[in-house]
Amino acid sequence: MNAEQVWTPDSWRGFAAVQQPSYPDADALEAALEELRRLPPLVTSWEVNALKAQLAEAQAGRRFVLQGGDCAESFADCESGLIANRLKVLLQMSLVLVHGLKTRVTRIGRFAGQYAKPRSTDTETRDGVTLPSYRGDLVNAPEFTPAARLPDPRRLLQAHARSAMTINFVRGLIDGGFADLHHPEYWNLDWVQHSPLADEYRQRVESIGASLRFMETLAGQTISDFSRVDFYTSHEALLLCAEAAQTRRVPRQSGWFNLSTHFPWIGMRTAAVDGGHVEYCRGIRNPLGVKIGPSMDVDWVLALCRILNPDNEPGRLTLIHRMGANTVARALPPLIDAVRAAGHAVLWVCDPMHGNTQTAGNGLKTRAFEDILREVEQSFEIHAASGSHLGGVHLELTGEDVTECLGGARDLTESDLKRAYRSTVDPRLNYEQALELALKIARYEKSVT
Ligand code: PEP
Ligand code: CO
Repeated sequence: MNAEQVWTPDSWRGFAAVQQPSYPDADALEAALEELRRLPPLVTSWEVNALKAQLAEAQAGRRFVLQGGDCAESFADCESGLIANRLKVLLQMSLVLVHGLKTRVTRIGRFAGQYAKPRSTDTETRDGVTLPSYRGDLVNAPEFTPAARLPDPRRLLQAHARSAMTINFVRGLIDGGFADLHHPEYWNLDWVQHSPLADEYRQRVESIGASLRFMETLAGQTISDFSRVDFYTSHEALLLCAEAAQTRRVPRQSGWFNLSTHFPWIGMRTAAVDGGHVEYCRGIRNPLGVKIGPSMDVDWVLALCRILNPDNEPGRLTLIHRMGANTVARALPPLIDAVRAAGHAVLWVCDPMHGNTQTAGNGLKTRAFEDILREVEQSFEIHAASGSHLGGVHLELTGEDVTECLGGARDLTESDLKRAYRSTVDPRLNYEQALELALKIARYEKSVT
């Protein structure tokens, strides 16, 4: 219905936009946004279009998408070791997936801009004191003090700078040969020597090395295509004033691009059909993701498809379902059937994290590896049984040895959680659990054409 109305980067302001902070100083906010509008973009429209083409291939069953990273980046974690380790684990996972699924993999980081978080309440009360909720480093700081929790527009510029530093470092590593398939040892995290999964990983790496040498012998030269990979960025398009300020026109292309990221997605809490987030996203040319939760019915999902992809453009729309391991078998099939019956071409991706969050006995937010795996496995099967296919996974993970999710090869228990629980928001798979999940997914070769 809103598709008839004129879109501008700021037309969302005429719609109800939930999850927006209230800034105490409107002039300071406008000054920060004005500066943001003038700063160079973080990505280019060519890259955005290249990703859209890859997502179209994934939609057609010729690629698999690996999207992963922190639940929320923090300014303090914008650090070379953490960024390199996250890249390493994503590269290792993608190598395993390429080998197991026998298909190309598109890598999308949840990074270089994942600084805003939706919250269940606008305020938080502790011991009778009520303060604004922490909404991510893009907005305020997590400490429970009035000063820290006050939304501060200077953070918009700090987030832009840190996103630029992150993407610059990732590009530098990739262009410098860090992702070279001839040298997977560059990405070895220490644990590869003593993990229970080490052998399986090493066998896959060796098998790829042998194939590579064979092909290069046949070709009589080094195949340079294998010396670099593409890496794309994504974040939840949550804080609309910041997204709009980084939305640009570019020469020789029609329309508007959000040039703060390749792949913005709409979160489950902000996916109202008549809300500001859907209004903003419908007008940009980027490929879009939308989280699909268990409370979203067929009519809602079909309306999102119509509004966000009225021309049925391949690669434009990714539906990221996050139902929970106990709900997916009931909630997903009707949506797949309805989307297909209505003729909408979409890419289906499974986020097995956000429907499986639980509170441990000690009060920590956690997720069980087994639930995460169960949701992914069921999703592969449900899609295959519905004549559809699962084209990717969306994960919260880190390259560090954290203890935030239960289970996995080392069988982390509730009492292990305290040892290295670092997330200020959702619990992430640690590097070993992340690779274990990739090794398990890699066995689903039959599901990918
Ligand atoms: C997230 O991806 O961190 C998130 C909040 O997800 P969802 O919108 O699916 O709840
Ligand atoms: Co999260």
